[in-house]
Amino acid sequence: MFDRRVPAPPAFGDPIHADGSPDMLAQLACRRSASALSLTTPGPSPDELADLLRLAARAPDHGKLFPWRFIVLRDTAKARFAAGLDAIAAARPDADKARAALGKLTTPPVAVAVLSSPHDGKIPLWEQELSAGAVCMLLLLAAQAMGYGANWITDWYSFDADALRLLGARAGEKAAGFVYLGAVAEAPLERVRPEMAALVSDWAG
Ligand SMILES: Cc1cc2nc3c(=O)[nH]c(=O)nc-3n(C[C@H](O)[C@H](O)[C@H](O)COP(=O)(O)O)c2cc1C
Repeated sequence: MFDRRVPAPPAFGDPIHADGSPDMLAQLACRRSASALSLTTPGPSPDELADLLRLAARAPDHGKLFPWRFIVLRDTAKARFAAGLDAIAAARPDADKARAALGKLTTPPVAVAVLSSPHDGKIPLWEQELSAGAVCMLLLLAAQAMGYGANWITDWYSFDADALRLLGARAGEKAAGFVYLGAVAEAPLERVRPEMAALVSDWAG
C-alpha cells in the first residue's frame, strides 16, 4: 500500500498554486461509491480519519461559517448507536424495512455523520446546506484517494427526529448524511452515467 499520509495544510495566507494533477484527474474519472455492505476492516485509523475530515472541511463555504460538523461513529460507540436505532426502528410503521436498513451502518468499520449546522445571518440557509453536501462529497473523494471505499447514505435515520436526537443533533441541525468508510471487499462495478449532451447546453440568449 502507498503512503497514505496527507501533506500539512498551507499556512494561512500562503499562495496556493494550482499546478494540476494527472493523478487527481485519474481518480475523478473513476470516482465511484463502494456499496456500504462491501466495506470491511481495516477502516481508516483515527489519524487517517482526522486527515480525511480535515480534507473534507476544505469544502467551499460562503461566509467562512463552517456550517457543518462531524460525529464519528466507530467500534462500540457505533454498535451502541445502531442498537439505539434498532429500538427506534422497531416502533416505526415500516419496522422491518427500517431495521434491515441498519446493515449499512453496522457493516462498515467507520461511519461519519455529517451535520448541517447553519448559522443565522445573511448567508442563505440553502447555501449553507449545499456546503454540507460539498463536505460529504469531498469526504468521499478523499477516502477514495486514500484507498478506502466510501458511501454517502441518508436513509430513514437521517430524517427521523428520535434518531437525530440519539445522534446528538442540536436544534436546527440536519443530517447531510452518513458517510461510511472502510476497506473495499468487492470492487464496485461501473454504473450507468448520464448522457452529457442531455445535461449541457450553451445559453441561447
Ligand atoms: C444525499 C445522498 C443521499 C443518499 N442516500 C442513499 C441511501 O439512503 N441509500 C442508498 O442506497 N444510496 C444513497 N445514496 C446514493 C449513494 O451514495 C451513491 O451515490 C449511489 O449508490 C451511486 O453510486 P456512485 O456514487 O458511485 O455514483 C445517496 C446519495 C446522496 C448524494
